[in-house]
Amino acid sequence: MSYFAFIFAAFFAVIAARQALAQTAAPAPAPAGPPNITAVLAKGGQYTTFIRLLKESRVDEQINSQLNNSFNGLTVFAPTDGAFNSLKSGTLNSISQQDQIELVLYHVLPKFYTLSTFATTSNPLNTQASAAGGGADTLNVTTGTAEGQQVNVSTGVVETPIASALTTDFPLAVYSVNKVLLPYDLFGPKSPASAPLPAADGKPGKGPKSAAGSAESAGESSSAPESNFSGWRAFFLGAGLVISAIGSAFC
Ligand SMILES: *[C@@H]1O[C@H](CO)[C@@H](O)[C@H](O)[C@H]1NC(C)=O
Ligand SMILES: *[C@@H]1O[C@H](CO)[C@@H](O)[C@H](O)[C@H]1NC(C)=O
Ligand SMILES: *[C@@H]1O[C@H](CO)[C@@H](O)[C@H](O)[C@H]1NC(C)=O
Ligand SMILES: *[C@@H]1O[C@H](CO)[C@@H](O)[C@H](O)[C@H]1NC(C)=O
Ligand SMILES: *[C@@H]1O[C@H](CO)[C@@H](O)[C@H](O)[C@H]1NC(C)=O
Repeated sequence: MSYFAFIFAAFFAVIAARQALAQTAAPAPAPAGPPNITAVLAKGGQYTTFIRLLKESRVDEQINSQLNNSFNGLTVFAPTDGAFNSLKSGTLNSISQQDQIELVLYHVLPKFYTLSTFATTSNPLNTQASAAGGGADTLNVTTGTAEGQQVNVSTGVVETPIASALTTDFPLAVYSVNKVLLPYDLFGPKSPASAPLPAADGKPGKGPKSAAGSAESAGESSSAPESNFSGWRAFFLGAGLVISAIGSAFC
């Protein structure tokens, strides 16, 4: 390649790089920090019971810190106040504090789903809650094939359509549901046959459902991470440094 051809190519490479930088730099300042689940729900205006349960169980803090650290994002099903009001009276009070935490965590999936990714996901889906026998409590999501397809969530105890989306900006998706998602593990028929193993004594796997435990399951349950954000970020950061070095050398 001749000297002039090289200069010519380099010149255009710098222009292209500067344009690319300008384009990628522009949308950056939009999210001032990780999203805040409580703020999203408060804006929705009809989730006061769910917000209270999130706070009491401190799952709100767990969610916010996971949103700041997780590359998989999170999906939250938010039952409306009407959903809680239509529960059989005493339902919440009939379960232990520990089970209330399980109930709240059951509404959180350790992965970001849009309505269209739900359609291509195979059931069952892990939630952040862990079942009595160990492993994650799961739920199913089914999507109709018809036009304006409805997405249903089913737990084995209740089935309800996703009523609307409060947010679907990665890393947080929040969907409104008109029923409380009652986990089969807590509200299904209590028959010994349904347990995977005959329980010896005590309640195995019913340890404190800590943030650490759920964060762990968040990592495990993503069987197919579609992208490695930290890797790409490092790559783009490196490329950006090289490009700006070239840029400043030329200008
Ligand atoms: C999240 O939002 C709630 C309500 O708007 C607020 O009380 C809380 O301090 C916020 N949390 C964080 C971590 O910003
Ligand atoms: C998010 O994480 C970073 C580093 O992990 C930390 O410095 C920062 O304080 C966190 N922000 C919030 C709002 O938790
Ligand atoms: C969703 O659930 C409703 C009622 O439970 C049912 O009529 C409908 O067929 C379900 N749709 C899908 C796609 O499963
Ligand atoms: C969820 O889906 C799995 C796999 O299709 C199925 O075996 C299971 O019975 C379903 N459970 C519920 C509660 O729909
Ligand atoms: C993502 O990439 C980083 C840097 O290349 C690597 O350290 C990390 O292990 C990768 N994570 C996954 C889940 O592949």
